[in-house]
Amino acid sequence: MTRVLDVKGLEGGYGSVQILYGIDMHVNEGEFVTIIGPNGCGKSTFIKTIFGIASYYTGDVEYRGQDISGWRTDQLVNHGIAYVPQVDNVFPSLSVKENLQMGGNTLSNSVLNERIERSIDMFTDLRSREYDLAASLSGGERQMLAISRALISDPKFLLLDEPTAALSPLYQQQIIERIDSLREGGITILIVEQNARLSLARSDRGYIMANGKIVHSGDAQNILTDPEIGEYFLGSTGH
Ligand SMILES: Nc1ncnc2c1ncn2[C@@H]1O[C@H](COP(=O)(O)OP(=O)(O)O)[C@@H](O)[C@H]1O
Ligand SMILES: [Mg+2]
Repeated sequence: MTRVLDVKGLEGGYGSVQILYGIDMHVNEGEFVTIIGPNGCGKSTFIKTIFGIASYYTGDVEYRGQDISGWRTDQLVNHGIAYVPQVDNVFPSLSVKENLQMGGNTLSNSVLNERIERSIDMFTDLRSREYDLAASLSGGERQMLAISRALISDPKFLLLDEPTAALSPLYQQQIIERIDSLREGGITILIVEQNARLSLARSDRGYIMANGKIVHSGDAQNILTDPEIGEYFLGSTGH
């Protein structure tokens, strides 16, 4: 089985502020993987380090067998990786369509327009709102727009930072279902989440992060149903 992402001993942070202390994890082709962990444990930093936004110090980071450690974001995008940030992931003063155009500023106009059309249909209910400002969208609609923008580069591997945070239960469900349908369409998925029940329920495998390290890994269903993990990492037992 192809390892889309293979991380061993990753250390990183922000300049000289170390946050990640040796992350070991992998994502197989076609998988949906969720990393959970408490606020401040380093989930966002991990995803940012992979995507070339936080500082990489040391460790192995391979994408489909190729060493990508320390690569720039634009190189990663060209190799099929896309990232949806946790916050500030749309430009409120731009229209829906302009936001999508920002996702593909190196593409030719014809390819860009084709991708925008496809991305709107694949992921949003925003067809009738193309010319509305992103500021006018609800939280759930903004998240759909942010994910659609990431799809413009035609990624094969999508990194999502808390895609359901601060959304209504209905939108949380919709977003996770749509992310799962992207996986069915052939995109490998890695999500980091604090409120992770919904995401784990769709996942193949899960990891638990604490204090900048992976402290547990396993089958997503086992993580969901483990009473101790539920108590410490998922807020409640869910029953
Ligand atoms: N730009 C930054 N510079 C320095 N420290 C940061 C920065 N961003 C986040 N941190 C710190 O890194 C730690 C991990 O944060 P983060 O990765 O955002 O955690 P999580 O996503 O798990 O909530 C926190 O202690 C946070 O304060
Ligand atoms: Mg975070």
